[in-house]
Amino acid sequence: MSDIGIGLIGCGVISGIYLENIARLPGLALRAVADAKREAAEAAAAGQGVPALPVEALLARDDIDIVLNLTIPAAHAPVGRQVLEAGKHLYLEKPLSATFAEARGLADLAAERGLRIGCAPDTFLGGGHQTARALLDGGRIGTPIGGTATMMVAGHERWHPNPDFYYSDPGGGALMDMGPYYLTALINLLGPVREVAALSSRPRDERRIATGERAGKTVPVEVDTHVLGVLAFESGALVQIAMSFDVIGHWHSPLEIYGTDGSMRLPDPNRFDGRVELKEGDPVAAADRAYGEGNWRGLGLADMAAAIREDRPHRASGALALHVLEVIDALHRAADTKKTITIESECDRPQPLETELT
Ligand SMILES: NC(=O)c1ccc[n+]([C@@H]2O[C@H](COP(=O)([O-])OP(=O)(O)OC[C@H]3O[C@@H](n4cnc5c(N)ncnc54)[C@H](O)[C@@H]3O)[C@@H](O)[C@H]2O)c1
Repeated sequence: MSDIGIGLIGCGVISGIYLENIARLPGLALRAVADAKREAAEAAAAGQGVPALPVEALLARDDIDIVLNLTIPAAHAPVGRQVLEAGKHLYLEKPLSATFAEARGLADLAAERGLRIGCAPDTFLGGGHQTARALLDGGRIGTPIGGTATMMVAGHERWHPNPDFYYSDPGGGALMDMGPYYLTALINLLGPVREVAALSSRPRDERRIATGERAGKTVPVEVDTHVLGVLAFESGALVQIAMSFDVIGHWHSPLEIYGTDGSMRLPDPNRFDGRVELKEGDPVAAADRAYGEGNWRGLGLADMAAAIREDRPHRASGALALHVLEVIDALHRAADTKKTITIESECDRPQPLETELT
């Protein structure tokens, strides 16, 4: 069957790995790139054999089926709406939108138009997390009762040349930026979240950029950057979550799941590779699945393209990303109001990925 045509909008830091992987994943053909900054689009197009176009010209092309939206979070929904209104399927970097309300609007528009939305992260499709899923589904730790999700770093202004969006409201904060990896990995393993509680703080009001042309300049912090919460899953499992841009270093592992018969330490959910460690039984289960080594960012896009061809659901779905964003929004609201919040959206666990895509 013929390849699915891809148009890329947003040629910044993360676009490089997507361009590399679109070329090596099956069933994808890059047709054009666009960016609000013409020189960024031209730099990305160089060497790809595709044109750098204005956004409207990219959306007008008949040979593009899915638009890959790699713009900043504040532009995810406005650019996403343009894509859907142009009749194209949409695949975005996380978060689905800067706010839950905007994301719901995108999901409604896609449903009205009969179009698909897919969304990063797709790291849960990597060999590391698929190994964990197979072990968990095989009953290796019994019934899950709880776990921990921990991502605490000193802040992305240490390496990103334009870190403004990590601190802006809406769309910023450690929970909004990194929460999608941890929550998506947990939902892949444990199913949907039903209720959350949280507290949060904002230890600093500005951040100093360390690299690039703006090094030394500061960006304002408009959101809480240190968030601690509790996730109550529909299954009954209770997981503690800590997301922070205020911690210089720590000794916790990224993700752990506790079951009635054992405990599991999972790979970093920002990676496709990694090992699963079991407290009981065999000490280490190596990531022996497909996509168990290397950086496969874009795998969710390739799965969505294959799903369009095969007329089946795709795994890194809009419904999953919407549920994740509702949980993030609810954690922030729980912290603001000092109340537990019930999650309304539904999502199923995605199907396991047992073999490489063809
Ligand atoms: N940088 C990373 O390591 C990383 C990792 C994972 C996910 N992400 C996610 O990827 C997305 C992009 O991050 P980045 O680091 O590449 O950002 P970036 O700022 O480096 O690049 C974003 C690009 O989008 C363009 N853009 C912004 N608004 C636009 C619009 N309305 N129309 C067209 N182009 C527009 C900008 O000109 C810029 O070139 C974010 O959602 C981020 O959360 C980034």
